[in-house]
Amino acid sequence: MIQYIRHFKILIAFLAIANIHNIILANDEIKRERPGKLFSPAKIPLLEDPGRDKWQKPEEILNLLDIKKGQTVADIGAGSGYLTVKLSERVGAMGTVYAVDVQQEMLEYIKKRTDENGIKNVILILNNMDDPKLPASSLDIAILLSTYHEIVNPIDFIKKIKQALKPHGKLAILEFTDESPIGPPIKIRLPEDIIIEELKQAGFTLTQRHLSLLPYQYFLVFTSSHQ
Ligand SMILES: C[S@@+](CC[C@H](N)C(=O)[O-])C[C@H]1O[C@@H](n2cnc3c(N)ncnc32)[C@H](O)[C@@H]1O
Repeated sequence: MIQYIRHFKILIAFLAIANIHNIILANDEIKRERPGKLFSPAKIPLLEDPGRDKWQKPEEILNLLDIKKGQTVADIGAGSGYLTVKLSERVGAMGTVYAVDVQQEMLEYIKKRTDENGIKNVILILNNMDDPKLPASSLDIAILLSTYHEIVNPIDFIKKIKQALKPHGKLAILEFTDESPIGPPIKIRLPEDIIIEELKQAGFTLTQRHLSLLPYQYFLVFTSSHQ
C-alpha cells in the first residue's frame, strides 16, 4: 500500500512538471505577428459592448492613474471613444482629452458622439503610424488601451509620446493576456515582458504593474527614466 501511495505521488509530481513544461512550450510556440492588423471600424460594436464596463473597469483604471480635474490626457488609439468620454468627464471642463487615432472613421464616430453629448473638452487628432502628433510637453497622462499591439514601430512611436509628456507624466498600457478568453487573436497579443523591454529602450521605467485588477488584461504604468 505504502509503495502504491509513493508511486501515485511520483505520478502526480510528474504530471505537474509535464503540465508546466507544456505551458512554457505552448507560450514559446505561439507564432507572434507584429504589428497586429488595424482594428476595423466595422467592429466598433465590440468596443461599445454594454457588458464591457464590467470587465474593463474603466473607473478603477482612472482611479489608479489618479486622473484629476483640469489635467491634460491622451487616449491614443481611441477607437470609438469608449475611454475618451470617460476621460472627458474625469478631467472636467478645465481639462483636455486628446483622442488620437490613425483611422478617420474612428474619429468621425467620436465627433458624432461628443457633439451629441455636448462634450467640449475633446480634441481629435488624426495621426499617422509613425507619429502621435501630440503637442510637446503637454500631457499629464497618455493611455494606450488595447492599441500597443497594432503599433508599427513601437519604440520610435513611444519616444514621440515621451516628448509629448510633461516631465512627470505617466504612460499607461493595457493589453489582453494570452490566457484571456476574449480579445484579439492570440498571435497578435503581446506578452507584457516584450512591452516592458521595449519601453525601457524608449526611455521609460515601469512604475505600476497591475496583473489581477482586470480579468482579461494586464495594466502597466511607466514614467520617463530621466526626469
Ligand atoms: C483595438 S482598437 C482599441 C480602441 C480603444 N482604445 C478601446 O479600447 O476601445 C485599437 C485602435 O488603435 C488605433 N491605432 C492603431 N495604431 C495606432 C497608432 N499608431 N496611432 C494611433 N492609433 C492607432 C486603431 O485605429 C484602433 O482604433
